[in-house]
Amino acid sequence: MHIGCPKEIKPQEFRVGLTPNAAVEAIAHGHQVTVETMAGAGSGFPDEDYIAAGAKIVGTAKEVFDTTDMIVKVKEPQAGERKMLREGQILFTYLHLAPDPAQTKDLMESGCTAIAYETVTDRNGGLPLLAPMSEVAGRLAPQVGAWTLQKANGGRGVLMGGVPGVGPARVVVIGGGVVGTHAARIAAGMGADVTVLDRSLPRMRYLDDVYGGTFKTSYASAGNTIELARQADMIIGAVLIPGAAAPKLISRAQLSELKPGAALVDVAIDQGGCFETSKATTHQDPIYDVDGIMHYCVANMPGAVARTSTIALGNATMPFMLALADKGWKKACEDDEHLLNGLNVHAGQLTYYAVGKALGIDVLSPQLALKN
Ligand SMILES: NC(=O)c1ccc[n+]([C@@H]2O[C@H](COP(=O)([O-])OP(=O)(O)OC[C@H]3O[C@@H](n4cnc5c(N)ncnc54)[C@H](O)[C@@H]3O)[C@@H](O)[C@H]2O)c1
Repeated sequence: MHIGCPKEIKPQEFRVGLTPNAAVEAIAHGHQVTVETMAGAGSGFPDEDYIAAGAKIVGTAKEVFDTTDMIVKVKEPQAGERKMLREGQILFTYLHLAPDPAQTKDLMESGCTAIAYETVTDRNGGLPLLAPMSEVAGRLAPQVGAWTLQKANGGRGVLMGGVPGVGPARVVVIGGGVVGTHAARIAAGMGADVTVLDRSLPRMRYLDDVYGGTFKTSYASAGNTIELARQADMIIGAVLIPGAAAPKLISRAQLSELKPGAALVDVAIDQGGCFETSKATTHQDPIYDVDGIMHYCVANMPGAVARTSTIALGNATMPFMLALADKGWKKACEDDEHLLNGLNVHAGQLTYYAVGKALGIDVLSPQLALKN
């Protein structure tokens, strides 16, 4: 198969869909790889790395789209990219179609077969191509929170690990899933006193078994949440209710009960945020002050560490990308129901029920799409 990787064109997107290592593997499997010039530059992969891997570098995205059988990307295709997709071409990338009718319509009209990273599943009921970005955002959260806590940034002026004779920062993590667990581990590693709140008892049992000596757990009742929040120097919001907007767990009125200069890091901002006063910010202007409480609410946190994020995403996508290339999308999806769960659009029809429901579009079952 001929695999193509264009440069990402969404603003502030520095990741790339295919790493040079993934190109090496694809070529070793007998495939051809074409990459747009500078596609990897934002992640620290110059064209030379792809050439050394055996890939061909071309000057424009159009050449990538026109000559290849499968496009591997990071972000959903932008309007100009969608025009270049063609019937029968495979698109493997994040799509997030439910809130995006324009993209859905264009993908259906293109006739391409679009497999969305975010709906590929694993045998534990997880989302293996979303998890690496949650791991990155979770591990980054205490790092940006620690910076926010510095006096010059409007924070409380508290050091995460304290020093001998001075206690550490108190960090409360709300939501003990992928983001929350990684955030708690790093905050504890920085020497902070960390408590994770969750509403799932099985999850808290797991966290207590595995990380009992590293951080504490507490049930996320409204009473516990505000009690721990009052004592916190940093609160990390990491909740997720699948398919729903994040619940608001700290209200504007409650900000007056927090310590002045406390840092709120709302990782759940991409689902609307879990603090009432959260609004999405960018890496250029990441923090703002409401009533003396500093908020960090960047919706695309992994973008800050594009190289780590690209490599982590590439590690997760590579086996699926190789299966699609080796077997063709039909056989690959027939052999792997979890990859089939990623199928969102095929030959002009929507094949993912939740997106159809959100947009009021009829859906062809993915199993029937395999027979088309
Ligand atoms: N800002 C970013 O760049 C970025 C990057 C990655 C993920 N995220 C977001 O981070 C959030 C967490 O993602 P995840 O992968 O860790 O999800 P996850 O499903 O692994 O974990 C969510 C946890 O929240 C818990 N939870 C649900 N409701 C709760 C409540 N009311 N109180 C306490 N806990 C509650 C669940 O039991 C679960 O353990 C999501 O909104 C995700 O979209 C944001």
